[in-house]
Amino acid sequence: MQILSFKNYEELSGYMADFIVNSIKNKPNLVLCMASGSTPALTSDLLVQKMKDQKVDHSKFTFLGLDEWVGLPPTNSGSCHHFFHKKLFEPLELSSSQYFLFNAMADDLRSECSKMDKMIANKGGIDIMIVGIGMNGHIGFNEPGTSFTSLSHVADLDEITKSVGQKYFDGPVELGKGITIGFGHLMNTKKVFLMANGSKKAEVIKKTIEGPVTESFPASIMQQHANGFILIDEEAASLLSKPQ
Ligand code: PGA
Repeated sequence: MQILSFKNYEELSGYMADFIVNSIKNKPNLVLCMASGSTPALTSDLLVQKMKDQKVDHSKFTFLGLDEWVGLPPTNSGSCHHFFHKKLFEPLELSSSQYFLFNAMADDLRSECSKMDKMIANKGGIDIMIVGIGMNGHIGFNEPGTSFTSLSHVADLDEITKSVGQKYFDGPVELGKGITIGFGHLMNTKKVFLMANGSKKAEVIKKTIEGPVTESFPASIMQQHANGFILIDEEAASLLSKPQ
């Protein structure tokens, strides 16, 4: 695991977007798995801008959505579907054959999980995974207690996830379960980037980097990834024992 420090959110997001653009230039059939949420919002905007400015051919890469709230329709503005469509698929005019998101409205969610697992296997694995970190240390919906070897699965959401998650929605929503790519896939991904910004993330970043590796604090798995990168701004780094 390596730590990459940036002055602020803008610099961090600019680095991440450049990295993706260059990776697609080098490997047009790249498999990218990404989280939605507040943290990757600017990376997504900058990615679109840079792809367009640099006229990068993005017709061959594959996009996988990390997770989704179970039971929410794609039209709900707080859904991950909505985020990816508005921020990436529509502006980049991606073909629907290029992206795969969990259908969290499906009756058979287990089949959604096996579809994702098969997709990852058929594509030869994930090249780049970009994730955020929750206030309980979750990654995607890999909540505290999730096995480090799990594949795609449906999770009961932690109380913290249910309450913090309200920020994505226009009004109160009842959140119960999530569907997510698991840590078995994260560990097999060639390069994993965990991004965090702002002082509210300082405590969880300290635990991620300096705490014990334990399934009760999911993001600590990053310490075990040989090509795991933690991207933090000054505020998120503010509680680390060793200044970055
Ligand atoms: P955020 O979410 O990027 O909106 O802070 C992170 C997460 O809960 O995974």
